[in-house]
Amino acid sequence: MSRLLDGLDAEKRHWLHRCGQMAVTRGGRAFLVGGSVRDLLLSNDQVDLDVVIEGDGMGVAQDLARELGGSLIRHHAFQTAVVTTANGFRVDVATARREEYKRPGQLPQIVPGDLENDLARRDFTINTMAISLSESDFGAFIDPHDGRSDLETGCIRAMHPRSFADDPTRVLRALRFSVRYSYKIEDKSEEWMNEAITGGCLGTVSGERVCKELRLLFTESPMQGPSRLEVEGVLPIVHPGLRFQRKPLQGLQDLIEWWEVASSGVSLVTKPKGWLMVLGCCAKRLSSTERWDLVRHLKLSREERRPLIDSGAPWKRAADSLLDSPGQPLNSMVEREFRGIDQGALLVGASIAGIDSAKAEMVRIYLDELHGVTAELDGLELRELGVPQGPIVGEILERLRVSKLDGKAPNASVERKLVKAWLAENQL
Ligand code: CTP
Repeated sequence: MSRLLDGLDAEKRHWLHRCGQMAVTRGGRAFLVGGSVRDLLLSNDQVDLDVVIEGDGMGVAQDLARELGGSLIRHHAFQTAVVTTANGFRVDVATARREEYKRPGQLPQIVPGDLENDLARRDFTINTMAISLSESDFGAFIDPHDGRSDLETGCIRAMHPRSFADDPTRVLRALRFSVRYSYKIEDKSEEWMNEAITGGCLGTVSGERVCKELRLLFTESPMQGPSRLEVEGVLPIVHPGLRFQRKPLQGLQDLIEWWEVASSGVSLVTKPKGWLMVLGCCAKRLSSTERWDLVRHLKLSREERRPLIDSGAPWKRAADSLLDSPGQPLNSMVEREFRGIDQGALLVGASIAGIDSAKAEMVRIYLDELHGVTAELDGLELRELGVPQGPIVGEILERLRVSKLDGKAPNASVERKLVKAWLAENQL
């Protein structure tokens, strides 16, 4: 009996044990499968729980959600379900199945099957291992395709010649695992993968699915990810103008690190948007029209598209106009030009300009010192100082803000003096 499950914390082990019992109650069997087993073997302590049920997977998911007091989302068409609790505990449950690909690149049709079918339909041998969750052999290790040996020798091996053509997102997955673990793609599999790439298989997949994989790859491996995509000829398939940009991407990592320290880790920019900033660097040469084509192809949301769109023409316009201004641009000018531009796009622009450039320095000053600056006084205090009601209040607040940005109003008392002087000047 394998002791692999001992690598999990007690809570996870308990619920896996319960899954096993629930499956038996419904006349089936439960197994921990796929990436979960791979990660357990790699001693990863952040193992996701992927459970496959021979039998009524949707029923077991329902029982589990009830007992856990968690929420349940079921996709009956795919026979998959996700159970989550309020404190973030999550189990993915699926009915064991065979998959039939009617057309390459399209989502497969699902036919209920047993564990053997379910493991055989998977992408790479390292993802085809299972652990029994049944009471009688709880923890037993199941490895029909020698996944463990490929995991130990560092080899990504596809299950069959059509694997990449059936599901071309596996090209991106193979490269992601290869980069993540520094594993080699086995020779024959690489041949199948290259045939699929040159045969244009990625063109048969929806932009959304490509996007999901790019997000994972660029988040995990912001340098090696795009570099590997270029080497394998995949980057130009996503868009012909995309290129791996070594220097900007190196600069981007430095700037992201700097920004995380400068913003004390509270930056909302870098974590979720990091991969979009990587894409923004690779899109260095893309025109506005091409950027919009890419946005539409990948189905990026309004917020997601900003690092890509704003690092094009809006960034160039803003940065060039600041450099064109005679002398050193005032802080208030920098703030005015940059405030409408996505912060991720500013970091992309600075990386492309070079992190030692004047443009990058302006971005650092803006993010660190200028963005979000407001006057010390508020509308109420202005009224108390005698400012009449109406648009003048907003105008004076803006003048105070500009003075503060440019170092002419270091505190509230100077702001009060300024307000009084302006009121006197204008005989208000
Ligand atoms: N899978 C597959 N083909 C795909 C996607 C997934 O065969 N295109 C299978 C693999 O067996 C994989 C499992 O479904 O292990 C779960 O997929 P997923 O959760 O997306 O990936 P993981 O392998 O768990 O990898 P990660 O560590 O990135 O979560």
